[in-house]
Amino acid sequence: KLDNALKLLREVPDFPRPGVVFRDLTPVLADPDALRAVVDGLQDKIDPDTQVVAAIESRGFLLGAPLGYGWRYGVVPLRKPGKLPAVAHRVSYDLEYGTAELELPADAILPGQRVVIVDDVLATGGTAEAACTLVERAGAIVTGISVVLEITALDGRARLAGRNVSALLAV
Ligand code: PRP
Ligand code: MG
Repeated sequence: KLDNALKLLREVPDFPRPGVVFRDLTPVLADPDALRAVVDGLQDKIDPDTQVVAAIESRGFLLGAPLGYGWRYGVVPLRKPGKLPAVAHRVSYDLEYGTAELELPADAILPGQRVVIVDDVLATGGTAEAACTLVERAGAIVTGISVVLEITALDGRARLAGRNVSALLAV
């Protein structure tokens, strides 16, 4: 089931730049059976002591909310800057060109809570690393990083060394 779901992954050459192959999960999430298989697949690898899903804006939101509903986790959005009315912590991280920031909402994650980070894709790992930093600044514990797709050539796993990283598909 999961294999069939992941076959719906679309590869778009030369997006967003010439020479880059963009891996698009849209057709996977648009298919009801595939969406279910992917969300179930993520859940299978989440540490059973986890209490909260921290979902990374924006594509991670599509995965974090069904996980929270289905298995009774709280869901906390890690947001791009300027979106949250009350911010607990902000982290800057490097992109290929320039920098980006993620923010953790105030009063969402408590010290000692066990939190899984969820996103669609792990590429360089910069986004996931920033997410881990935010959760840990709140005094919480990262139980793992769960993604649908890992782009191995960019070696995000090395950046997240020592952490529990799981991907449903590595390309
Ligand atoms: C993409 C993807 C991951 C991140 C992975 O998001 O959804 O969140 O990049 O890249 P990294 O491992 O190199 O940090 P993007 O920032 O394009 O935003 P979006 O989810 O809002 O489309
Ligand atoms: Mg993203």
